Amino acid sequence: MAALTLDKVSKIYREKGKADNRAVKAVDMAVHDGEIISLLGSSGCGKTSTLRMVAGFESVSEGQVRIGERVINDLKPAERNVAMAFEGYALYPPLTVANNIAFSLLRSKMPRPEVRKRVQHIAELLEITDILEAYPPTLSGGQQQRVSLARALVRPADLWLLDEPMSQLEPQLRAVLRGRIKEYLIEHRMTSVFVTHDQTEAVALSDRIAVMSNGVLQQFASPEDLKERPANLFVAGFIGEPAMNLLPARLALQDGRLDALVHAQGDAGIALRVSFGALDRVVNAAALHDGQKVHLGVRPHKVSLGRTADCANPVQGTLAFNQWQGDQSHVGIDLGGHTLLVVTDGAVDLADGSGVGLCLPTEALHLFDSDSEKALVHGADLR
Ligand SMILES: Nc1ncnc2c1ncn2[C@@H]1O[C@H](COP(=O)(O)OP(=O)(O)OP(=O)(O)O)[C@@H](O)[C@H]1O
Ligand SMILES: [Mg+2]
Repeated sequence: MAALTLDKVSKIYREKGKADNRAVKAVDMAVHDGEIISLLGSSGCGKTSTLRMVAGFESVSEGQVRIGERVINDLKPAERNVAMAFEGYALYPPLTVANNIAFSLLRSKMPRPEVRKRVQHIAELLEITDILEAYPPTLSGGQQQRVSLARALVRPADLWLLDEPMSQLEPQLRAVLRGRIKEYLIEHRMTSVFVTHDQTEAVALSDRIAVMSNGVLQQFASPEDLKERPANLFVAGFIGEPAMNLLPARLALQDGRLDALVHAQGDAGIALRVSFGALDRVVNAAALHDGQKVHLGVRPHKVSLGRTADCANPVQGTLAFNQWQGDQSHVGIDLGGHTLLVVTDGAVDLADGSGVGLCLPTEALHLFDSDSEKALVHGADLR
């Protein structure tokens, strides 16, 4: 049984004189016991709304939210046994930091020495021991945020909901705390839902990531699967830095083989032809037809530059730009008017306009239907 289940959950904000705002649209999701997940997506995509419905600070407009077997739609927040760190911190100004963190532990009648021990431990973990006797209004945003996070993490609960809990911290501290928080959650087997719009953070923290766009859950999968098996064009373009190359192409199904052809801009010539080999290597070959409009995807890191020997898909192009980023090169290759971005570890000693050989490994290629935008083939899944 799942620790948390969202069953066709929607949030509709209704304001007088305005059209209804459907902020969360029929989201289905099941989070396992002890699992750490993230809701990931751009500003306004419905992450906080989803979390607040689970916590009970927003009503559930449609669908059902369950914690274990219990339907919690109509329970008050305090009856749900859920701990939450809010985007806006929500600390008690008249209480010291220590008492803010201890508040719910003392209310649950935990013995004081045990409370002190827990507060001290979490304060050390989040590097806020020096402000335990301070009052919230005197703290910086980053300090208030860590106090809010500490208060949520020490609370005994069935579920922990953490809304952008590190957004105010500088990158270095953020990376250190991220590692410690993850260890803490695993050690205590805490089922947790993070909200973030930072994919590096989501990947580092989560067992699985729920990618949201415009209120719709696009895919809920492990970081590896989101990279290797993006369910649609949105996820393919959203996950991964720099973004996946996506080129408009047509399928060619001939003699039991599957090829994808990218036409050159402005004329009928072929800019790029890649082969997936025998059609029966493709898991859902029945969904494909000759001439089908598709997008061909390949991640910039997966293309190798200058190597065409022993390559199933060797390609010749022209160097369009060459940018050294300090630790890697971003190289643009012109293929009949389309630009393919390639990322390599070393510096590339080539001038603009040079002819360049490339290899597109079949296992790194993806095909998406251009109309439905759904994934058709992932090179990693070829038989
Ligand atoms: N209390 C509210 N009343 C009316 N509309 C709201 C309310 N809260 C959020 N919305 C709207 O719902 C949509 C989703 O907002 P939400 O706060 O869930 O997004 P988010 O993904 O958390 O964004 P961010 O990354 O900026 O925090 C937005 O269009 C927002 O304007
Ligand atoms: Mg939010």
